[in-house]
Amino acid sequence: MVPASPGKPVRPEAHEVQRTSRTLARDPSTWSPEAAHAAVRRYRELAPHWNDERGGYRPLPLADALARGDVPRGGRCVEVGCGTGLLTPMLTEVWSEVVCLDLTWEMLRRSPAPWRMIADASRLPLPAGWADAVVLADVPLFAGEVVRVLAPGGVVVWSNALGTEAPHHVPVELVRSVLERADGGASWSAVTSDAGWGLWAVLRRG
Ligand SMILES: C[S@@+](CC[C@H](N)C(=O)[O-])C[C@H]1O[C@@H](n2cnc3c(N)ncnc32)[C@H](O)[C@@H]1O
Repeated sequence: MVPASPGKPVRPEAHEVQRTSRTLARDPSTWSPEAAHAAVRRYRELAPHWNDERGGYRPLPLADALARGDVPRGGRCVEVGCGTGLLTPMLTEVWSEVVCLDLTWEMLRRSPAPWRMIADASRLPLPAGWADAVVLADVPLFAGEVVRVLAPGGVVVWSNALGTEAPHHVPVELVRSVLERADGGASWSAVTSDAGWGLWAVLRRG
């Protein structure tokens, strides 16, 4: 556990969005073109101020996950919902190839990452078994796609920068169970910690 300083921001919409995030994690068929358009509208508005308003606290939980989560290093990583690329430099220090994707061009166009794709996490434009790591930092969880693109021995890195108060927060136990279900009932384990205002988990088969 990494201690938190005072002043954690409150997102009034968090609890309602969390309900949707949990429902989506359990049942990806609740995703729709309307939901995708709503997400794009929301992040298009947030994009111009994202780094200034949120850049201070967002990196800490992911940095802690990469430092203490025993992730495999040097292979290929996909950052799903990379947004403005705020977290990407930490990933390129760990993995040799990092592909970043996001649904919202207004977020993605601000990212300095060399490999960027406009894409929907519900249909990842990557071959099966491509990724040694799938990084999900405050994004919707489509477990079937995560499991499909993950290489044997790969890890899923999950983080919520505002912890259990984050709009995209899904309890780690639920993340683990939907990954297991999507993986045909195989057993998954998770290492998790609080870090600053957030939390993280590194999940893997076995
Ligand atoms: C809370 S922001 C997080 C951005 C970045 N991971 C960070 O930590 O700064 C959520 C991001 O996920 C993207 N997103 C939402 N739904 C998505 C989907 N179905 N596929 C891909 N990206 C999505 C949004 O456009 C937005 O950029």
